[in-house]
Amino acid sequence: MLASLSFCMTSKSSSFINQYGPWALIAGSSEGLGAAFAEELASKGLNLVLIARRENLLQKISENLQTKYGVEVIVLPLDLSSPDMFETIKAETKDLDIGLVVFNAGLGPIGLFTTHSIETHLKVINLNCVGPMSLTHHFCSEMKEKGKGGIILMSSMAGLQGSPIHAHYGATRAYTRHLAESLWYEMKKYNVHVTACVAGATETPNYLLSEPRDKGLIKPKPTKPEKVVKTAVRGLVRNKHRVIPGFANKLSVTFLLNLLSSKARVKLMGFIAMKMYGEDKMHINK
Ligand SMILES: NC(=O)c1ccc[n+]([C@@H]2O[C@H](COP(=O)([O-])OP(=O)(O)OC[C@H]3O[C@@H](n4cnc5c(N)ncnc54)[C@H](OP(=O)(O)O)[C@@H]3O)[C@@H](O)[C@H]2O)c1
Repeated sequence: MLASLSFCMTSKSSSFINQYGPWALIAGSSEGLGAAFAEELASKGLNLVLIARRENLLQKISENLQTKYGVEVIVLPLDLSSPDMFETIKAETKDLDIGLVVFNAGLGPIGLFTTHSIETHLKVINLNCVGPMSLTHHFCSEMKEKGKGGIILMSSMAGLQGSPIHAHYGATRAYTRHLAESLWYEMKKYNVHVTACVAGATETPNYLLSEPRDKGLIKPKPTKPEKVVKTAVRGLVRNKHRVIPGFANKLSVTFLLNLLSSKARVKLMGFIAMKMYGEDKMHINK
């Protein structure tokens, strides 16, 4: 019985490595959701390329995962919103067989659209749209040739309709969701899985830093990063076009999409955001 269970687990992990290995690249992996992706993928036997700006955090994660799971880890400290990031990543990974890419990093200024500078908005586009688009284009083309692989693009419930107070962020999360869902269809005949992870509030350092006000039922109960990541990876393995982690999130999306008009949905999102952050709060995450 024990022997057959362990055989079953081994064959599951080797089929995971065959489809998505031997290397995975995680863009934005020094903490929170990105670090949880690193742990989950290392536990499944993938070697990792970890990218973020804070090298010290990446090094700590790298040492921990190498010791714990015996995988190889390469740390690549860089700013994913910088103009040379694509060429740098291409050059640094040219000899690696990358079978899985997770684009996790995101920037989400909170506050009225006009209170943030045009420089901030351009940075948001570079990180949230140009980043996932360029890495997906490059690695998806390679995966298509190999006839296997996977891509996970992070999106958000803020991207399901207009989202006042997170206006530009919501627009970029609609972008990644549309891109992933379309590529899911285009790529499935090449055995390349593409999944959009439409997360709700998640207990990451960035979310906690935004200090949402507690308004009872209005404040969403954040999901643990590990749960979001497990749902995303399970969805990828099942080749789902998108996943919505967390039962309450799934329920509220069903309610929002099926019972309310698009105008009412925007009004509701605006109302909730105002309660959580207030008109006066012009916070920007890192
Ligand atoms: N948290 C939530 O409530 C929530 C809800 C819905 C969707 N999401 C989505 O989930 C993703 C992650 O969200 P999060 O910020 O809360 O999670 P996180 O995974 O805790 O942190 C973001 C990661 O990205 C890295 N990063 C940020 N800007 C970067 C840049 N310019 N260059 C390189 N790396 C960068 C950060 O590291 P460094 O600072 O070291 O660079 C960090 O490792 C985003 O795409 C977001 O849209 C989050």
